[in-house]
Amino acid sequence: MTPALDRRAAESLLAFWAEAGIDALYGDDAVDRLAEGAERLKAKVRPAAPAPTPLRTVRAAAGPDIGEAVTQARAAAAAAETLEALAEAIASFEGCSLRTEGARQAVFSRGAADAPLMIIGEAPGAEEDVQGAPFVGRAGKLLDRMLAAAGLEGRVFITNTVFWRPPGNRTPTPAEQAVCAPFLERAIALVKPRMLLLAGGASAKAVLKRDEGILSMRGRWFEWKSSDGALDLPALPTLHPAFLLRQPAAKKKAWLDLLTLTERLDRQGRPE
Ligand code: URA
Repeated sequence: MTPALDRRAAESLLAFWAEAGIDALYGDDAVDRLAEGAERLKAKVRPAAPAPTPLRTVRAAAGPDIGEAVTQARAAAAAAETLEALAEAIASFEGCSLRTEGARQAVFSRGAADAPLMIIGEAPGAEEDVQGAPFVGRAGKLLDRMLAAAGLEGRVFITNTVFWRPPGNRTPTPAEQAVCAPFLERAIALVKPRMLLLAGGASAKAVLKRDEGILSMRGRWFEWKSSDGALDLPALPTLHPAFLLRQPAAKKKAWLDLLTLTERLDRQGRPE
C-alpha cells in the first residue's frame, strides 16, 4: 500500500501532475456504469422523497457569507493611493480564506505601473507562490514569449483575480474572486490601462460577470465596467497559457487574439 502522504506532499504532487497536463484521475479497475444503471432499473425502486433540507445546509450550499470580507476589502482598496500601498493592503488583508489554505505569501502584480494593457489571470500557481509574482512559471514564460512576439513586452501590467495560491492549484471559487475583486478594481483604477486581456475562463467569467465558456468568449470584445460605473474599458478574453501548454494546437487562436488586441491598442495609441 502507498504510505500516507502528508497534506503538503499531496498538494505538491497534485500540482506537479496538473503542470504536466494531467487533469483527471482514473481508478485501476473499469466500472461498468451501464450495468449499474440496469441493476437500478430492474429494482424499480421509486426514489424516496427528499428529506427537507435543514436551513444551515441551505446556507452552506449558497456559499460562505462574504459580505463582511467584501466590505473590508473595499475599504482597504479605496484607501490605497498608490500601487505600492495597494500591494501592502493586499498583503495584510485577512478576509480571503485562501490566505490560510497553504499559500506562502500574497502575489499581486508585475509589470509597468502605467501599462496600456492589463492582463488578468486566474490565480497564482506553485512557482508564483514561491517567487511572489504572477505568471513566472511555465505558463508565464509562454505568456512572456507571446507578448514579446506581439511587440507588447514592457507594455503590460499583470495580475490575477485572486492574490493567494489556491490549494493544489484548483480554480478559485466565485466567492474568493468576489472578496479579491475590490483590490483588482482598484489596481485597474490606479494603472489606468486602455484595455484588459482576460486569460482563461475563470478570469473572464469573474471579471465580466458572465457565465459563458471561454471557448465561446475568447476573441470577442466585451465592455468591462467598474462597480461604481466610473470606469469602462474594452476587455478581450483569451485562452489561458497553461491551457496552451497542454493543447499546443490552440496556440493559433490565442495568437490571433493577441494580434487583434495589439492592433486595437496601437490604433488607439496613434495620434488622430
Ligand atoms: N496562472 C494564472 O492564472 N496566474 C498566474 O499567476 C500563474 C498561472
